[in-house]
Amino acid sequence: MSVLIKGGLIVTAAKEYIGDVFVDGEKISLIGESLDVAADQVIDATGKYVIPGAIDPHTHIELPFGGTTTCDDFTSATVAAAFGGTTSLVDFCFQMPGQSFRAALDTWYEKIDRCKPVIDVGFHMAITDLHDGGTLEDLARVPDEGVTSYKVFMAYKGAVMVDDETLFKTCRVAAETGALVMVHAENGDVIDVLVKEALAEGKTEPKWHAATRPPITEGEATNRAIQLAHLAGAPLYVVHVSCKESIEPIARARQEGWRVMGETCPQYLFIDETALDAPFSEGAKYIYTPPPRPKENQEHLWDALGSDVLSIVSTDHCPFRIKDQKTLGEGDFSKIPNGGPGIENRMHLLHHFGVNAGRFSMSRLVEMTSTNVAKQFGLYPKKGAIAVGSDADIVVWDPKRELTISAATQHSNVDYNLYEGTEVTGSPAVVLVRGKVVVEGESLVAKPGHGQFLKRARFGEELTA
Ligand code: URP
Ligand code: ZN
Ligand code: ZN
Repeated sequence: MSVLIKGGLIVTAAKEYIGDVFVDGEKISLIGESLDVAADQVIDATGKYVIPGAIDPHTHIELPFGGTTTCDDFTSATVAAAFGGTTSLVDFCFQMPGQSFRAALDTWYEKIDRCKPVIDVGFHMAITDLHDGGTLEDLARVPDEGVTSYKVFMAYKGAVMVDDETLFKTCRVAAETGALVMVHAENGDVIDVLVKEALAEGKTEPKWHAATRPPITEGEATNRAIQLAHLAGAPLYVVHVSCKESIEPIARARQEGWRVMGETCPQYLFIDETALDAPFSEGAKYIYTPPPRPKENQEHLWDALGSDVLSIVSTDHCPFRIKDQKTLGEGDFSKIPNGGPGIENRMHLLHHFGVNAGRFSMSRLVEMTSTNVAKQFGLYPKKGAIAVGSDADIVVWDPKRELTISAATQHSNVDYNLYEGTEVTGSPAVVLVRGKVVVEGESLVAKPGHGQFLKRARFGEELTA
């Protein structure tokens, strides 16, 4: 099967130019000005952008968490992702306390086998226990399977939180194996004290979620993780950065030339802490962690994206239904499952409020959602590029297509949308994954099962096959 994408504005992280892209099988095989080549399918991209498919490095699909399980499986989540222009994702495989890494990986392989993805999927290994379940030797073997990043949580005490010993040992193994360490940076011990105090004082509404996780708990943990990873010689990636207190230590480390990267997510760019003031049935939608912050942090986040202090925007898609899952915490904010949905709308929001609003260029959008992700997570140049030899993961993006974001039309199983009613201009017209059209306008064209497991390269290494 061959596809010729004609006359679009090809936008990569480095440049923009008008051209044709010829796809032969799964790969991009020719790029040129006016290619005179026969193809099975021709896509007219005049007036549209031709960009590398977005990659989401932070999702929680079918994850048992907070007393329930996230409500998207690998079919529904990847269909939703595809409609938003995302052609690969990397999900967190969780080692449950007491479990071996082998058992954790097998559980996640079973999930993609049972609910087949429509886009490509890789895994990170989330480490929760190096005492009873996982050994350092087994952890060192995980990257051999193409799972080349370790994640640790410095919060969620009593559930998945690890202590500094585990964080530091994980960093040391990563320094040896070439894995990237990812960290959820919040001081879980301090938050635990604040939550218990609030509940004892009868403070049970959603707004206490933010009040008990103040920005300084994120800033302190971010700095601690940076120092410990540096001491161990491991590269570090700080997930879901939400506030100035966390941006600052990342900026300092990068200034020093340390291997420290950070991401933020749309929910921190567009939603602030006042969303939690609403009554439970509305406020509970905004219970994700870190919590929505005071509004002034949003400008700090945009600036950090502009200056490359933060280099990636992920979604942290972690969907729980409002009608019967968030309700687990009615009367006690600490029992509301933490997480919000967002896998489908990352590109819509960033294009409209970032590119159209003049905050950054289309190239920078491509860099933050695709190329940088591919580079940091061992997927480049197979993914994240419009280049000869790269996978034909291509989005034909229509910068004029209008969309009103709504739960009624989204493809996730979740029953609300954090951006309900937001009007955006710019949306995918056609989405290809490895040369196959997956989404065309409003239609899902490919069947679940087209997606493949992604064996990623180690940090700093290239992936070509
Ligand atoms: O609230 C969130 N973000 N839930 C998912 C787990 C995590 O902390 O990323
Ligand atoms: Zn987290
Ligand atoms: Zn997360």
